[in-house]
Amino acid sequence: MNSTQIILKSSTRDLILVTGGAGFIGSNFVLSWLKNTGDSVLNLDLLTYAGNPANLAELEGDACYTFVRGDICDPELVASLHREHRPWAVVHFAAESHVDRSIVSPEAFVRTNVLGTFTLLEQARLYWMGLNGAERERFRFLHVSTDEVYGTLGAGDPAFCETTPYAPNSPYAASKAGSDHLARAYFHTYKMPVLTTNCSNNYGPFQFPEKLIPLMILNALEGKPLPVYGDGKNVRDWLFVEDHCAAIRRVLEAGKPGECYNIGGNSERANIDVVTAICDLVDELRPVGAPRRRLITFVEDRPGHDRRYAIDAAKIARELGWKPAEKFESGLRKTVRWYLEHPEWVENVRTGAYREWIAQNYAERREVHGLGTRD
Ligand code: NAD
Ligand code: DAU
Repeated sequence: MNSTQIILKSSTRDLILVTGGAGFIGSNFVLSWLKNTGDSVLNLDLLTYAGNPANLAELEGDACYTFVRGDICDPELVASLHREHRPWAVVHFAAESHVDRSIVSPEAFVRTNVLGTFTLLEQARLYWMGLNGAERERFRFLHVSTDEVYGTLGAGDPAFCETTPYAPNSPYAASKAGSDHLARAYFHTYKMPVLTTNCSNNYGPFQFPEKLIPLMILNALEGKPLPVYGDGKNVRDWLFVEDHCAAIRRVLEAGKPGECYNIGGNSERANIDVVTAICDLVDELRPVGAPRRRLITFVEDRPGHDRRYAIDAAKIARELGWKPAEKFESGLRKTVRWYLEHPEWVENVRTGAYREWIAQNYAERREVHGLGTRD
């Protein structure tokens, strides 16, 4: 092999197209992908309120990373990115992702999650059909979805598995279910190599502080009320975000096209237990006179609030050998530390629009009682 061929090889690295890579899970995924593989990343993100280029600041000047600000609902843009960058895979995170916002303003969820996913699938299909044999064989479209599509569980019900019937309860969950059905149809009808992952609640660095864990960490730190919805006994199955990223890499590497894989943390916790654990960690790491648990305030419930989610992740463990590496207690400690150590990141995301959302969501939510007055 002569030197020209070597240069040619190193300048034509494999590339994946990531959508929503400036969001919470997407940015963790982009960072971990670049650390763990020799591929380049093209990140298409609209930078809505939830997208934050600061999450990827360490990639500035990195020739393996390209950022494009744009909308997944724009077919011409999506087609041109496929044409020019020739990805071997699309990893689709972009979405409206917050359940409470979907209750207040559902339209954006249908647009981005349903129409946006359709636009991506369709443009990826047109690109994939034009690939040569080997490239066509290798191409993958990985659709990142959620356990919320399965609806809600009672205390004694078995965990969600891949064959659990869909029963979405919020506009967010319904829009994700719609996108899952489109992904399924593109495999079934066109034999396009689509993979779908349905994951439980993620937590970790870079999560926007409208979601339970970062909101509670920051409110506890600042001595503000900790608004727990309903009786606080709703259960979620928590997964450290790095474990989710590792699972997605594994599905891309070895998952079978047309299949769905459930991903979960084996860490079911009631919300009230998560919030008290956060209070205790913040007390330990930033002590003040009185325990933060006193800030817990039970407020009016989320309408249609799903009682319990739990994931049966046996299929991905059995077929692909993936299991979560992080325990909830150690992952939560790392997460609390991360928020305490990144006050500038926190300050930058708490814009005027963020403050308006917090005011709207919580000011109208009647306080039911504080922890001290609970029966
Ligand atoms: P997020 O809200 O933090 O990030 C979403 C990203 O998508 C943002 O960067 C935003 O700018 C971008 N985006 C939104 N609309 C867009 C559009 N029209 N075009 C291009 N980009 C757009 O979300 P997240 O929590 O990181 O979730 C990522 C994905 O994982 C979502 O599909 C979500 O449904 C799924 N998921 C999330 C969780 C969780 O616990 N957060 C669990 C399971 C599955
Ligand atoms: O299960 C996966 C899903 O997890 C993802 O698909 C969603 O994108 C993600 O946002 C998350 O949805 P949840 O609604 O479960 O997450 P959230 O952090 O909003 O809430 C977690 C639990 O905490 C839920 O039972 C509602 C409750 N909660 C939430 C907030 C914001 C409170 O009690 N108080 C709060 O202020």
